Amino acid sequence: MVFGASGFTGGRVVGAMVRRGLRPVLAGRSVGRLTSLAQRLGDLGGGKLDVVSADVGDAASMRALVSRGDVLVSTVGPFIRLGEPVLRAAVDAGVIYLDSTGEPPFIRRVFEEFGPLAERTGASLITAFGHDYVPGNLAGALALRRSGSGVHRVEVGYLTSGTGRAPVISRGTFASMVELAAEQSFTWRNGIQVEPTGSRMRTFPWGGWNCPALSIGATEHYALPRLAGPEGLPEVDVYVGWLGPTTRVLRLSCRVIPTLLALPGVRSLLRRVGGLAVRWVAEEPDPVALAQVASHVVGTAYDASGAVLAQVRLVAGDPYQLTADLLAWGAQRAAEHGVSGPGALGPADAFGLEVLEACAAEAGLRRL
Ligand SMILES: NC(=O)c1ccc[n+]([C@@H]2O[C@H](COP(=O)([O-])OP(=O)(O)OC[C@H]3O[C@@H](n4cnc5c(N)ncnc54)[C@H](OP(=O)(O)O)[C@@H]3O)[C@@H](O)[C@H]2O)c1
Repeated sequence: MVFGASGFTGGRVVGAMVRRGLRPVLAGRSVGRLTSLAQRLGDLGGGKLDVVSADVGDAASMRALVSRGDVLVSTVGPFIRLGEPVLRAAVDAGVIYLDSTGEPPFIRRVFEEFGPLAERTGASLITAFGHDYVPGNLAGALALRRSGSGVHRVEVGYLTSGTGRAPVISRGTFASMVELAAEQSFTWRNGIQVEPTGSRMRTFPWGGWNCPALSIGATEHYALPRLAGPEGLPEVDVYVGWLGPTTRVLRLSCRVIPTLLALPGVRSLLRRVGGLAVRWVAEEPDPVALAQVASHVVGTAYDASGAVLAQVRLVAGDPYQLTADLLAWGAQRAAEHGVSGPGALGPADAFGLEVLEACAAEAGLRRL
């Protein structure tokens, strides 16, 4: 089942599933939009897809959404505002759940709050199974494996090129970014440590250019230490950066916003201004501009002295297509073979590193 199928990302996930020969049920609150999508995609083969009406604000529809044995993919965002009822439905029904979030506070809740609940009901929660943050989990896990022992820190960089002037993010992504402005993020220092997004900046050399990147909380912080074995992994850092001025502008806003938020009334004012700004962003990114976007992901393992033990570099094109292909692959794999167990799972511990690497290659994530 794809919840959020009427949206930009959800529609692409459904398209990727149909191309794989799957027949997902389409769920969402806009039955009209879902029905025309179901008809259009059904015409490609296999007949019209089934449609289910569900709204995160309607408790009864959420209770009826899934039952044991289902695989649920959610692209209903912003997740920090809309994600909780979907997680609860997945946990209560004991299903396998995947989502397209990239939002640090939501990821934290999945691992710390809903993961233990899911272990009790038999649900498996695989959050952020898209461009954010499958490639970094894969690059980091491969660098860990290649290093053997003595790894003190794994650092992951997501570097995006080709963003140019035309819009390459959807309205849904922009809405999620607005929600994050007032939220805390985290990193890993022998445990999760809360810190603001962008509290650290680092420059990554890549193919002749230097890309500045900002620190962000991701699933790597929870998942990579689990893969490190009995020695443990003291430090994990994840950075995101864009070639051009974007990263430095965001860095400035990451510094200014926490100071502003301390003033009375500013939090709700920022939310209102952000909500108005969302309306001015096109629902879908410019397709020609999106085709120029490339994502470069580097995972590096260091020893305690800071020496590089291993580095893995991956590259992919359009991040939305990658997200759709990864979620479609993940849902199919989960439906046919299950996953490693209940609870909140990282991509490599849900599917196994070799299988994940094969899936990523199939989705167009190339190793350099
Ligand atoms: N991790 C990544 O790499 C990655 C990649 C792509 C997207 N994303 C994230 O995925 C999310 C979706 O992005 P998008 O571009 O697809 O946004 P979108 O086009 O705005 O889609 C949002 C979806 O949520 C649905 N929705 C909103 N409120 C709802 C409610 N109360 N009940 C049920 N459904 C509701 C919308 O339904 P209606 O059609 O009825 O409005 C729509 O289907 C965002 O949070 C974005 O940041 C992350």
